[in-house]
Amino acid sequence: MDFGNFDYIELNSNPNDFELMIEIKDLKKSFEDVEVLKGISTVFETGKTNLIIGQSGSGKTVLLKSLTGLITPTSGQVLFDGQDTTKFNYQERQTLRGEIGTVFQGSALFDSMTVMENVRFPLEMFSNLSMKEMNKRSEEVLERVNLTKESFTKFPAEISGGMQKRVAIARAIVNKPKYLFADEPNSGLDPKTSMVIDQLLHELTVEYNTTTIINTHDMNSVMEIGENIIFLKNGFKEWEGDKNEILTADNEAVIDFVYSSKLFTKLREVLLDEKSKNKS
Ligand SMILES: Nc1ncnc2c1ncn2[C@@H]1O[C@H](COP(=O)(O)OP(=O)(O)OP(=O)(O)O)[C@@H](O)[C@H]1O
Ligand SMILES: [Mg+2]
Repeated sequence: MDFGNFDYIELNSNPNDFELMIEIKDLKKSFEDVEVLKGISTVFETGKTNLIIGQSGSGKTVLLKSLTGLITPTSGQVLFDGQDTTKFNYQERQTLRGEIGTVFQGSALFDSMTVMENVRFPLEMFSNLSMKEMNKRSEEVLERVNLTKESFTKFPAEISGGMQKRVAIARAIVNKPKYLFADEPNSGLDPKTSMVIDQLLHELTVEYNTTTIINTHDMNSVMEIGENIIFLKNGFKEWEGDKNEILTADNEAVIDFVYSSKLFTKLREVLLDEKSKNKS
């Protein structure tokens, strides 16, 4: 799909004279005397769905918010395409905000705004397009996430949870972001709808070549779109790998996480059985 050229996108673009990715170096975050992130280093690659996984309370949201600037890290570096955003001034921070699309935990749509108004909101904040252009662009992304015209004038309370997620995704991509973040995009959805949402995020990542980071504790998502996964535990990066490697990971905490459901325990039995058959 051609989204056209908008002046504000040109203005926000950085020269591509460095590697495209997000890198964090020894990132720490404490609240009062409680250290939640205890020194995390990793690389989130562009054009891939990077997942942050871990149990509830492991620090996924704090890490994601530290990347988007909603939380100020206590120490460490956050490099967006080579630039340390922790040293950004107000203006640089504002510019970066215009390049980031976020799907917040629980969708976080504005209840008093229609679907269309929700999606148009980032354009009103960050672009200088006319109302007509903003509406056109909003319609394009709403159609891209497979929402029909009838839903455009509805309020969030009048549409299903799955549709709300689509609206949240449309709002996140409307300003054609370079960086796409989603915090538990599947929470509250049935497994099939979750898969559709995962696939949508993956397709958009490839289409826009975004650096996409998704928080999840859903193993289905891991198996569906886990191209690059970091596993958090007790404020540390406990493990890193992809969706194939995670099934045979030799790390107790990862095994505990992956095989916490009966379905995956069964799968482990099958995998181990196959492994022993192959040996004999
Ligand atoms: N603003 C804050 N002030 C103090 N402590 C905080 C704050 N935000 C998060 N925490 C603490 O940081 C820890 C990690 O929280 P976080 O929300 O990142 O977990 P999570 O992995 O996203 O969990 P979930 O899967 O339930 O969303 C928790 O112990 C939480 O209480
Ligand atoms: Mg969270």
